[in-house]
Amino acid sequence: MSYPYQIKNIEQYHRDYTRSIDDPSEFWSSVAEHFTWKKKWDEVLNWNFKEPKIEWFKGAKLNITENCLDRHLEKLGDTPALIWEPNDPDEHHRILTYKKLYEKVCQFSHVLKNNGVKKGDRVCIYMGMIPELAIAVLACARVGAIHSVVFGGFSAQSIADRLYDAQAEFIVTCDGAYRGQKDIPLKSVIDDALIGNRIVKKVIVTTRTRTPVSMIKGRDVWWEDEIKKVETLGLTDFPAEEMDAEDPLFILYTSGSTGKPKGVVHSCAGYMLFTTYTFVNVFQYKQGDIHFCTADIGWITGHSYILYGPLSAGATTLMFEGVPTWPDAGRFWNIIDKFKVNILYTAPTAIRSLMGFGLGPVHGHDLSSLKVLGTVGEPINEEAWHWYDEHIGKKKCPIVDTWWQTETGGILISNLAGITPSKPSYATLPLPGVHPILVDENGKEVEGNNVSGNLCIKSPWPSTIRTTYDDHERCRTNYFATYPELYFTGDGALRDENGFYRITGRVDDVLNVSGHRIGTAEVENAINMHANVVESAVVGYPHDIKGQGIYAFVIYQGSHAQNTHGTAEMIRKDIHQTVTRIIGAIAKPDKIQFVSGLPKTRSGKIMRRILRKIAEGETENLGDTSTLLDPGVVEEIKNGKL
Ligand code: PRX
Repeated sequence: MSYPYQIKNIEQYHRDYTRSIDDPSEFWSSVAEHFTWKKKWDEVLNWNFKEPKIEWFKGAKLNITENCLDRHLEKLGDTPALIWEPNDPDEHHRILTYKKLYEKVCQFSHVLKNNGVKKGDRVCIYMGMIPELAIAVLACARVGAIHSVVFGGFSAQSIADRLYDAQAEFIVTCDGAYRGQKDIPLKSVIDDALIGNRIVKKVIVTTRTRTPVSMIKGRDVWWEDEIKKVETLGLTDFPAEEMDAEDPLFILYTSGSTGKPKGVVHSCAGYMLFTTYTFVNVFQYKQGDIHFCTADIGWITGHSYILYGPLSAGATTLMFEGVPTWPDAGRFWNIIDKFKVNILYTAPTAIRSLMGFGLGPVHGHDLSSLKVLGTVGEPINEEAWHWYDEHIGKKKCPIVDTWWQTETGGILISNLAGITPSKPSYATLPLPGVHPILVDENGKEVEGNNVSGNLCIKSPWPSTIRTTYDDHERCRTNYFATYPELYFTGDGALRDENGFYRITGRVDDVLNVSGHRIGTAEVENAINMHANVVESAVVGYPHDIKGQGIYAFVIYQGSHAQNTHGTAEMIRKDIHQTVTRIIGAIAKPDKIQFVSGLPKTRSGKIMRRILRKIAEGETENLGDTSTLLDPGVVEEIKNGKL
C-alpha cells in the first residue's frame, strides 16, 4: 500500500501547507478519500471556537477499527501488525499479524458485548504494556464503547476519581504488571479504587504476573475464561459498530492548572485522519518499516503513535513492556538490533538518562537499521539532541522533534523526516492544516520573525479536542477563552528568522516531569492530605534528567520536628507516601523544603513567581516583593533552600 497523501519533498510540503490553510475542506477531504467509510460525509468542516463547536466530516459513518484492521487483511493479513517485546529479555516476544490481531480484537469485542458493554458506554482500561491492552483498546472502539485508559502508575485514588468523572461501568485490567524489577499489583489497586463505587458493574481481568488476586463473584471475570466461551462458539469476526464521525472515540485524562484532571475527548473520524496523516508524513513511514514508539499506551503518544496512527497506516508497530534501564541501559539498543527497528520515537528524558550511562551500553548493538529518530513530550536540549544524532543515528538519521499535546490528538509542529530541515531544539514548522500564531499577554498577534509569545492555533485541525468529558464549559474556559477565537496551548514559543518554532515550555501552572504532565495544584492537594501539613506550594525547577523537577515548600505543623535532619527525612518520606497514595509515584516531589510561611499577597494569593525563582537558584532579582504581606518570609525561604 502506498500513501497518496505522503509528502515527498519540501516543495510539496509548501504546496500542501498552503492548500490546507487556504481551503481546509478541500485538503482534508482529499486525504479522507483514502480511508474506509460506511457512509461518506455531508460536510467536511463546521466550526466556531466561541462555544467551541468543532465538527469534521459530519454525517459520515465509520468504525476506526475497520481502518486499522479489516482494510489491511487482504494485502497485509500475514504482515506483523504488532510486535510485543516483554519486560524480561529472556521471555519470548510475540508477533501478531494483522489477521491475528483482527481475530483477537473481534473475540474480545464479543467478550465486551457478552459482559454488557454497549455503544457509548465508558470502559476504563488499567493495564500494563501487554498485547491485551492494545486488544482491549481496539475492541472498545469496535463495539463503539468509549475507552478511558489510565496509566498503570496512577494510584487507586486517581483511578477512583477518573472512574467517577467518566461514570464508567466497566474496567479491563490485569492481575499485575512488570516494570523493570517491579511487579505492580494492578488488580488490587483496582479493588481499592472500587471501595464505595456503586457504578462499576464488571471488571475483566487478564493474567500476566500470576500475582494472587481476589475476584468478587458477579463483578470480576477472567479474560481467559470469557475468551474460551467465545472460542467454543468458533467466533472470529465481530461486526464493527457504525459510528458517527463525531461520536467520541476515547477519553484521556490529563493535568491542567486546577487540581482536577480533565477528561480530554477525541472523536472518531478527525482523530483517525490526523493521526494517520501525521504518522505517515512526520516519520516518512514506508511499508515494511518497523516503528518503535517507547511511550506507554496510558499516554496520548501511545494512543496515537503506537496504536491508531500506525495501525491505520498498515504499519508494523513495536510495543515494549519494560523500562529503558533494565536489566541494563542497553535495553532500547538491544530491541532495535533484535527486530531491526527503522524508526525510534522516544522522550528527551529517556535520552538524557541513557546518555548518563556513557557509550558502553550502546556498543555491541547493531543500530544500522535505524532510518528516523523522533522525540516528544518536552523540549530537547542541544546536548541530548547531538548525542542522539551522533551515537544512535550515526549522523544519518533525521531527528523529528514533534510538538503536540493530549488535546491536539496528533503532532502539530515538527519537521518531516528527511523532507523539511531540522534544527536542534526546534520543533520547526507546522504540519499541513495547522495554523500557529504567537500572541502577547493581551492576545495581540506578534507578527514577523525573531519573536516570542504564547503559542495559539488559529483554526481547527481534524483531531482538535472536542470537549472535556461531561463539562464543556471547562473545555471552553481552559482552551478557548484566554484569547478569543484562538485555541491556547498553554506553551510559550519563539519563532526564529526562518519561521521555525521553538517551544520554550509551559506558561501556566503545569509541570513537565520526565515528559509527564503534572499540575502543581494537583501535587499541592495531595501533599495537603497529609495530616500534619498546613499548606504547601509547588513549583518546577530545572532538572538534568527529568527536564523539570518538583520542588515543594511545605508548612508542617507541630513540634518543629523537621528541624532535626533525621526527623525531617522521615517526614519527607511520609509526604512522599501521601503523594504516591493520592496521585502515584510520578508526582513525588524531588525536593521538600519546610518553611514557616509562604510569600503571599495581602489578598492571600501565593506569589509562585518568587518561589519559582528561589527553586531555580536565583537569590537576587526576585522582582517586586513590596506587595507581600510578610516580606521577611522570603529571606527565610532563601536561606533554607535545598
Ligand atoms: O509543554 C508541551 C510539552 O508537553 C505538553 C503536552 O503534554 P501532554 O499532553 O502530556 O502530551 C505529551 C505528548 C504529546 C506540551 O504542552 N511538549 C510536548 N512535545 C514537546 C513539548 N515541548 C517541547 N517540545 C516538544 N516536542
